[in-house]
Amino acid sequence: MELAKTIKYVRELVKAARSDGKKIGFVPTMGALHIGHVSLIDRAVNECDFVVVSIYVNPTQFGLSEDFEKYPRTLDADLKICEKAGTDVVFAPADNEMYEYENITWDDTEKLTEPLCGQSRPGHFKGVTTICAKLFNIVTPDIAYFGQKDAQQSVVIKKMVDDLDMPLQITTCPTLREPDGLALSSRNKYLDSQQRKDAALIYESLQIAAEAIAHGTKEPQTIIDQMRTTLSRIKNADIEYVSVVNADNLRYLDKIAGKALIALAVKIGDTRLIDNILVDAGE
Ligand code: PAF
Repeated sequence: MELAKTIKYVRELVKAARSDGKKIGFVPTMGALHIGHVSLIDRAVNECDFVVVSIYVNPTQFGLSEDFEKYPRTLDADLKICEKAGTDVVFAPADNEMYEYENITWDDTEKLTEPLCGQSRPGHFKGVTTICAKLFNIVTPDIAYFGQKDAQQSVVIKKMVDDLDMPLQITTCPTLREPDGLALSSRNKYLDSQQRKDAALIYESLQIAAEAIAHGTKEPQTIIDQMRTTLSRIKNADIEYVSVVNADNLRYLDKIAGKALIALAVKIGDTRLIDNILVDAGE
């Protein structure tokens, strides 16, 4: 496995692989890798001939009061995980490699970034799409892999790729969960033991929603109320949103039908966690 710290070097490595006719898979990450990331790398290794993982805590997607400074940085452990998973290149650039001086060109995916996380994280998705556009231009992958846990991110990136005719495919992989249902996330590390226990209620609330929908509930508000009741059992929780939206265009639903995304964000103490499930509610 190669470690590339510069854009120039990762480009050279990818160019050589491509000239050997290899299909390039790409897993963009912010490091602090866990088995959720490993599942993305595994999928890339299975479907592609040459796999690049990027590890970069992107400052432009963090708000001023967010956790950029304290975001876990575990490069040595991450490199071992990548190597074991069969990664060919880890691209781990320094900040001045990615944003050399003031960045004045942005990718902004309107409308899709207004609901859900966009409400409380203004500018977040602009940072995400911009860094992803940059990484796609650097790595030039055939397929890039994202996790379903960040459902809105995946929808937004797919739309960016479509709208800007970027020549790659976006593949969204299922969320991996702890035995009690908590979605794997690098931010789970922030939880103390009581918070970690309470965090299981997040998935419980989503399952209650899925069950109610399977039993014919069509009213989003009924689902939202039930979920909020479950989430309110978490101590010191601030429920940021619980929403039922169309899974493709993220518009709020008046009536649950077709492919719906049930998504939520909740702050437990200082830790903001998100999760979601996809349901097919039929006609
Ligand atoms: O999902 C993440 O870890 C980040 O948002 C991403 C896609 C690596 C962009 O910084």
